[in-house]
Amino acid sequence: MPLELELSSASVASVRTPLLAIAMDEKPGAATLVDLDKALGGALQRAIEGREFRGARDEMLQFSGVPEGARRVLLVGMGKTADRPGALRRAAALAARQANKLGSGEIAFHAGILDEKSVEAVTAGLIAGSWEYKDLKSPPPEEERRAPLARATILADDNEATRRGFAAGQAIGTGHSLARSLAMMPGNLCTPEFLATTAREIAERYGMKLTVLGRAEMTAEGMGSFLSVAQGTPQDPKLIAIEYAGGKAGEKPITLVGKGLCFDSGGISIKPAQSMEDMKFDMCGAAGVLGALEAIGRMKLPINVVGLIGATTNMPSGTAANPGDVVKSHLGKYIEIINTDAEGRLVLADVLSYARKFDPAVVIDAATLTGACVIALGHTATGVFGTDEALVGEVIAAGKRAGEPGWAMPLWDEYRELIKSDVADIKNSGGRPAGAITAAMFLKEFTEAYPWIHLDIAGTAYSETDLVAIPKGPTGTPTGTFIEFVRGRLT
Ligand code: BES
Ligand code: MN
Ligand code: ZN
Repeated sequence: MPLELELSSASVASVRTPLLAIAMDEKPGAATLVDLDKALGGALQRAIEGREFRGARDEMLQFSGVPEGARRVLLVGMGKTADRPGALRRAAALAARQANKLGSGEIAFHAGILDEKSVEAVTAGLIAGSWEYKDLKSPPPEEERRAPLARATILADDNEATRRGFAAGQAIGTGHSLARSLAMMPGNLCTPEFLATTAREIAERYGMKLTVLGRAEMTAEGMGSFLSVAQGTPQDPKLIAIEYAGGKAGEKPITLVGKGLCFDSGGISIKPAQSMEDMKFDMCGAAGVLGALEAIGRMKLPINVVGLIGATTNMPSGTAANPGDVVKSHLGKYIEIINTDAEGRLVLADVLSYARKFDPAVVIDAATLTGACVIALGHTATGVFGTDEALVGEVIAAGKRAGEPGWAMPLWDEYRELIKSDVADIKNSGGRPAGAITAAMFLKEFTEAYPWIHLDIAGTAYSETDLVAIPKGPTGTPTGTFIEFVRGRLT
């Protein structure tokens, strides 16, 4: 059930709510909250003076049993930050998560005076914090049930600007939630077919054009690289293309590409059993494309965007591709498969080649591509690869606005040596050294026709630990980066 949200210009002291969350920075003060503090019998002032609450990032302090207005008050710290929207988004997510845990059902959120961008951040944050994937959990017995967060009120002046921010925040939040739910779904439910169905629903909702190629159509297209990955699975692979024409006719589209491995076992080069279940997350790039299109459609952005997804599973079987096999890609280059577990680049090679059909202004692909990227940048930054420095900077800036930090990685010709093949034009693995870079160098071979950026989200798309504002599981990355990049290109 989606979170129901409203903007309200009610005063913080008078709002009647089971839970009032108040975000404060590193210099918390009770001065602007005099009336509320009266209802709290001066507890707020005492807590701040006594340093029981310092406003540090993620710090929380709760008062309950408030006699009037809000029944509970939750202070949430934002710490010292230059990025106020980012801090507000995080605080709102944390507050909403807390509301879910408390079972308050409703929340009101106050953070002083909020401008358009702040309202947007709070709205998106509340939606992010309320997100849960519960489809596959039986409800607990009646007496143990807690009300999930169903309603949120943002205390802000109700004007044209804040309403714009509110609408944008809802679109962004909805896109993120969609991406996270798709990512969280197990591989037996979120299949290539299911991704295509989800794409169809988005396309129908917002009047976008959808094209889906299956095994037969891809064979006719000569997509030997993509098909080599799908060779071992009975499930029909899908190349999904969604065209959103919000801009002028003839204007070149921004093209977003996502790796959609609904499960990656490694194929014949099979992975170890340890954490193999996490490879259901190998479609987070695809989830980001769908989440971004959901948000872009909702916002009715006046720009042309194409979303492309390469969806399949990578399975070992008697029909699977073997190490040593050579396949002919859609672009015509021959690829020697050294390792069938380096399948994402094989899928993307053909999708990136297919992208030429749309005459893109720019192509950004996102893929949980390499374990090596996790070694290089950990779970903190997305690897950003490109040869156009200005474009790299533009994408990193977009990620920063979205709260999805990225870091530039080199794509120097020297690295091409590592993926030279003895028998074919290129091989799909260069071994362990610079593994994230050689994967990107491989993709680069198929992207000469347009400006291009590759995002390696292997470390950032999902988390194996609770991240305080985000639970263990999918983070929503790269949805926000995609959305912000597109918004940044509006003229
Ligand atoms: N999907 C994996 C990459 C991955 C690993 C994502 C860990 C998230 C967490 C990718 O398909 C893969 O298996 N890559 C190999 C490439 C290697 C065989 C050259 C890897 O990273 O080990
Ligand atoms: Mn793999
Ligand atoms: Zn993979």
